Amino acid sequence: MTARFPATRLRRPRATDWSRRMVRENHLSANDLIWPIFVREGKGVVEPVASMPGVNRLSVDEAVKAAKEAASLGIPCIALFPNTPSDKRDERGDEALNPDNLINTAMRAIKDAVPEIGLMADVALDPYTSHGQDGLVEDGVILNDETVGVLVQQAVVQAEAGADIIAPSDMMDGRVGAIRGELDKAGFQHVQIMAYSAKYASAFYGPFRDAVGSKGALKGDKKTYQMDPANRAEALREIEQDILEGADSVMVKPGMPYLDIVRDVKDTFGVPTYAYQVSGEYAMLMAAAQNGWLDQDAVMMESLLAFKRAGANGVLSYFAPMAAKLLQG
Ligand code: PBG
Repeated sequence: MTARFPATRLRRPRATDWSRRMVRENHLSANDLIWPIFVREGKGVVEPVASMPGVNRLSVDEAVKAAKEAASLGIPCIALFPNTPSDKRDERGDEALNPDNLINTAMRAIKDAVPEIGLMADVALDPYTSHGQDGLVEDGVILNDETVGVLVQQAVVQAEAGADIIAPSDMMDGRVGAIRGELDKAGFQHVQIMAYSAKYASAFYGPFRDAVGSKGALKGDKKTYQMDPANRAEALREIEQDILEGADSVMVKPGMPYLDIVRDVKDTFGVPTYAYQVSGEYAMLMAAAQNGWLDQDAVMMESLLAFKRAGANGVLSYFAPMAAKLLQG
């Protein structure tokens, strides 16, 4: 007896909404979202970032309100980035070590007002250096080990201010192990490290550099420490290294153009894996939506779900509050 043609009809389970929901393989929830927030000086200030419609630089009091909103939307964690005033930037990025700098002040205020939300702090010198590089520079060369010596101090100062997750985004060799050691020595065994392990030298970071004010300042590029977008095997070596050095979770960045790397990482190591849907990805979707060329809510949700399908445990995204609101219904 021959099977009637066609025996298999893949359209059958797709036919109704209830059935599509029943066979759905991946799901997005507010728990998957980490919201990056830009902090600036002042009081009561909500300053739009021109290249990121809907994203603002917030003074500390406004950042506290944003943290409250995030918590009420069920977003588990926020990531803070400072727009350091230019008179506080210098060659060595000393402001990074100031316990009362913008980030540390914001973390104390948020911990006080919204203790239930996770706080992630970026470790790198670019928001604090006059040259916009993530590390110390000598004769045009980014110094690895000297930079790590500063980053470990930055991490401890951030942990003292209440950071729950230290996120080194600098791509120096050996920094995860050095930071872990220094955190433990200072009594911060409980503070997590999420390593920006596979961070590419990407043109998609443009609007972020605008938001933190390092764009005009940046001399040259970051290709001697961030990865070549052409490389895949090297990403796995970076990830492996950071896991061996004690990272609790790892990150792939940017996001959408690098979903192959997210899948590789998850399949190879099975560790908590995050992706960063970066500023340029947000900007291009928003620009198209504002032109009426794309449906904003639809592409936002589809892009976030795609990270889950690729194996990510969560996504850092500027869409986080908008997506969480939609998920609430
Ligand atoms: C700083 C840092 C960058 C981003 C996160 N941390 C920029 C860079 O490396 O130049 C980019 C985030 C984004 O584009 O949204 N080291």
